[in-house]
Amino acid sequence: MLIDFIYSLSVFYVLCWGLVLVGCCIVVHVLIKYCWNYYITLWCVTDNELSHLPIPPGTLGYPFIGETIEFITKNDKFYKLRQNKYGNVYRTHVLGRPTIRVSGAHNLRKILMSENSYVSSQWPPSIRKVLGPYALSMMDDIHEHKERKRLLINLFLPDALNQHIPIIRKTIKHFIDEWCKKGNILGYPQCRNLAFIIAAKCLAGFDCDDETGNELSLIYQSMVHNMFSLPIELPGFGLYKALKAKKQLIQRIAENIQKLQNIPVDDIKIVSALDFLLREEEENCRFKTCESIVELMFASHDTTSSAMCSYLMFLGKYPNVIHKVREEIGSDDLDILTLNDLPKYKYAYNVTKEVLRMTPPVGAGYRKVLKSFQLEGYKIPKGWTVAYGIRDTHHTSPLYTNSDVFNPDRWDDLPNFDRITPDNLETRYNYATFGGGPRTCIGKDFAKLVLKLFVLEVCKSCDWKLENKDAELYYIPVPRAVDNLPLFVQKRSNDDCSNKKDINCIQTN
Ligand code: HEM
Repeated sequence: MLIDFIYSLSVFYVLCWGLVLVGCCIVVHVLIKYCWNYYITLWCVTDNELSHLPIPPGTLGYPFIGETIEFITKNDKFYKLRQNKYGNVYRTHVLGRPTIRVSGAHNLRKILMSENSYVSSQWPPSIRKVLGPYALSMMDDIHEHKERKRLLINLFLPDALNQHIPIIRKTIKHFIDEWCKKGNILGYPQCRNLAFIIAAKCLAGFDCDDETGNELSLIYQSMVHNMFSLPIELPGFGLYKALKAKKQLIQRIAENIQKLQNIPVDDIKIVSALDFLLREEEENCRFKTCESIVELMFASHDTTSSAMCSYLMFLGKYPNVIHKVREEIGSDDLDILTLNDLPKYKYAYNVTKEVLRMTPPVGAGYRKVLKSFQLEGYKIPKGWTVAYGIRDTHHTSPLYTNSDVFNPDRWDDLPNFDRITPDNLETRYNYATFGGGPRTCIGKDFAKLVLKLFVLEVCKSCDWKLENKDAELYYIPVPRAVDNLPLFVQKRSNDDCSNKKDINCIQTN
């Protein structure tokens, strides 16, 4: 009896102390979050301008780490939850900075058109260091940026793009043949290899066989994987490795330049972006030329490979879309395709737009706030980061009915955002895949060309089956299937699409 009583009493004590401890933890936890929030919103707003306006609603997480862990682990839901709760403008604290996340066409336009007056482009220090001062995206001086952009835009004019078509097609065909020989492949790494070889050939002028391609790819991967690191340039640290790899890449590009050394500049046949820059830039600007090429390869690679992988995923889930692309191709000979022929494939382009709307490879762009300004009645404070959400805008814009559903046909009824007209100055920001304003993507026409050729070729020449139709997408740094998209690929026996039975339809329905 006594033992029972002592036992019950000790259980009661343990429970009470347990509850007190849990209570204390909750109070300390709330207090820490409250103080951090108070500190950031009151003391980290460094100017008195627009002080009558509130800071956007939201949470700032824990001291220093903010909400970074949640941001990384919750994936897409991190922004969805906050946007549902707070609307188009809210505050958070990710990757070491207090950040205002913004979505909606009107707000995106305001941010993108305020470059250099209210905001300026922002990149982590390690990326700045690796890409270097001659990279277009790193240039802070407006005039220098404008001048360089004016030159680089020429790399992607129609004549240049036409030159790239045979190279891009040949490379895509080679990869598809290899995939069909293997049968089982991992879609994401394969698309990464493909996008890398296209960039190496068309941008840097490499004459890649498989061996050179693999060797260059290893150097490039070492640069990219170590780029997002602490800004410490000492042996063993990521930044040191990234800079070493970049130096090797520049050396290899310099070898390509050397090969053209004996040819008079005006006689250089322009096949790659490098050839063009060699013709346009002075002899003493060779390092600048090489840096630009490295930047273009970097900007092109992750983005186009992510989009290619999204194609394989969405089309694998929607065989009727593949069927319609094939109908559109009919018995056309894609080997003689030129830029002028592409508008004919309207549905294939709708598919491209829809893939890029659903899973834009760049989910958001980052800016540093130079001067406080007002947005939807809130103060966007000087010194903070403002992130314009591309994916968030695509998924909440009233322009897209059932915006979470993959539906290429919707583009038949939507305005053409490719051209800027007085009527679409604001609405076109409902589709912000390539950004906008002075920092608009310079390679968008090249990217669209590669993607259109990819969708046409892949639909025409092979059937593929998703091994896991429910694979989740992970969005950091670019969208990709978490399981790397295992696929079974096989050659279509007859490439003529006009009256071919679709194996994809049979397999996936
Ligand atoms: C589907 C593929 C692509 C997507 C979705 C994409 C998206 C973007 C976006 C959203 C921006 C603006 C970033 C910002 O506002 O901070 C941008 C900038 C840029 N992109 Fe792309 N891009 C793609 C392909 C390419 C390609 C193929 C190239 C080069 C060959 C390229 C080169 C650049 C450069 C150099 C900038 C910086 C422009 C500047 O600072 O003025 N991109 N891209």
